[in-house]
Amino acid sequence: MAFPLTRMRRLRRTPALRELVRETRLDVGDLVLPVFVEQSLGTALPIDSMPGVSRQPVSGALAEASECLALGIPAMIFFGLPTEKDAEGSGAWDPEGSVQQAIAAIKAAHPDLVLIADCCLCEYTDHGHCGPLNDADEVDNDAALELLARTAVSQAAAGADVIAPSDMMDGRVGAIRAALDLAGHQDVAILAYSAKFASAFYGPFRDAAGATPSFGDRRGYQMDPANLREAVREAELDIEEGADAVMVKPALAYLDVIRRIADQTAAPVAAYNVSGEYAMVKAAAAAGALDERTAVLELLTSIRRAGADFVITYHAKDAARWLQKT
Ligand code: PBG
Repeated sequence: MAFPLTRMRRLRRTPALRELVRETRLDVGDLVLPVFVEQSLGTALPIDSMPGVSRQPVSGALAEASECLALGIPAMIFFGLPTEKDAEGSGAWDPEGSVQQAIAAIKAAHPDLVLIADCCLCEYTDHGHCGPLNDADEVDNDAALELLARTAVSQAAAGADVIAPSDMMDGRVGAIRAALDLAGHQDVAILAYSAKFASAFYGPFRDAAGATPSFGDRRGYQMDPANLREAVREAELDIEEGADAVMVKPALAYLDVIRRIADQTAAPVAAYNVSGEYAMVKAAAAAGALDERTAVLELLTSIRRAGADFVITYHAKDAARWLQKT
């Protein structure tokens, strides 16, 4: 049945034919917009390494929410910058913290948006690691759990629909689930950053969130980029502990991990198209090396094709506009 009987080009001939046989669809309903909130700002502060993205005061986060609603983006994920940092990261569970205030304001104005709270301590600790340190200056896993649980409960109390722990401590999903249930937040979901790799592609985010470790790196708790089977194990453990959905992060250098986890688990799979991936595309487009719109839609489609049910991306608003027009 090979050529000339079979001609693959027949179904590629017109836009309508291509539409008909398209295997993967990119829909605005699968996108999540990340937002950096800093309550002490008077006005939005552009992030140099991420053109088009700013740190926002609470009012700015509220404006971003209205934009999401207008564009059809169903969900946002929030990162906070505290007014002060300390060894434990106590700003993370401050009921008047940046994330808590933004979530409360947006929930009141737009109750239908899905509000996801990133749950981690690195933006709030003065040493920039994702949990408190022990005497040997290593992150103390079990001491972090209680602080993360406290953070999650304060985020849920503010109105978060989903808590997304990104710290990579062992046992955090179980600890957060138990604490949420105890506080009466049994309907608040957990999206676990299950396969979060120790990646160079978080560089611009750490700029944006002021969360670069003051010494060492995160390889003692985030995953080794070389490991695939371990990623499946992380996802399975998080689901056993009560995760409602799992995440792979970054996305583009880890499409095989997304595919494997999507094949081996039944839970919804998210992928985080991270800051460095965004910055690369923006830099290439600014240099005239590629067409931004075509490149972004191709990359986001590839993440969906790999098996992600939804995608967290700084391109969300642009992609939503481009999808409306196609
Ligand atoms: C917090 C956290 C990070 C990102 C999301 N949550 C940074 C890190 O782990 O160093 C990265 C997001 C991005 O790069 O866009 N732990």
